[in-house]
Amino acid sequence: MKILMVCLGNICRSPLADGLMRKKVKDHGLPVEIDSAGTGDWHVGEAPDHRMRATAKSKGVPIDELRGRQFKVEDFDRFDRIFVMDLSNKENVLKLARNNSDKEKVDLLLNLSHPGEDMEVPDPYFGGEEGFEHVFQLVDNATDQLVNDLKATYGEG
Ligand code: 4NP
Repeated sequence: MKILMVCLGNICRSPLADGLMRKKVKDHGLPVEIDSAGTGDWHVGEAPDHRMRATAKSKGVPIDELRGRQFKVEDFDRFDRIFVMDLSNKENVLKLARNNSDKEKVDLLLNLSHPGEDMEVPDPYFGGEEGFEHVFQLVDNATDQLVNDLKATYGEG
């Protein structure tokens, strides 16, 4: 199973979702690979935003080594599930989908913790420090749910 986390810049929300899931699948011994990407190309090759790195580090989640990359159409072939952070990410990813099988892989991350509500992870980039804590809580809850679903599929490793 391969899971991709997607946001706009791939320097705030999706690297956090990526790092949290890498840690959680390792802790639970799940046979799952995780990666992340942005729909935009401004931050390709960059480390995550320093504020997101600081928030993640304070919770014991290392994301310093992750590097930004842009979502590409081949990601539909490489990944089984693609979680987007907001509706505009969803629209941008779906624009690249070639068929229904591609489209069916895509869902909002927060539909894991808030089924059917189409809630978005707000973009913290232009806001204050408190936005990063809020993003952490939302993404931590949703990825807990994802790990529970994966444990039901694979059992505890
Ligand atoms: P992210 O946040 O999508 O959570 O990585 C952003 C980072 C950078 C920009 C926008 C959103 N930007 O416009 O550069």
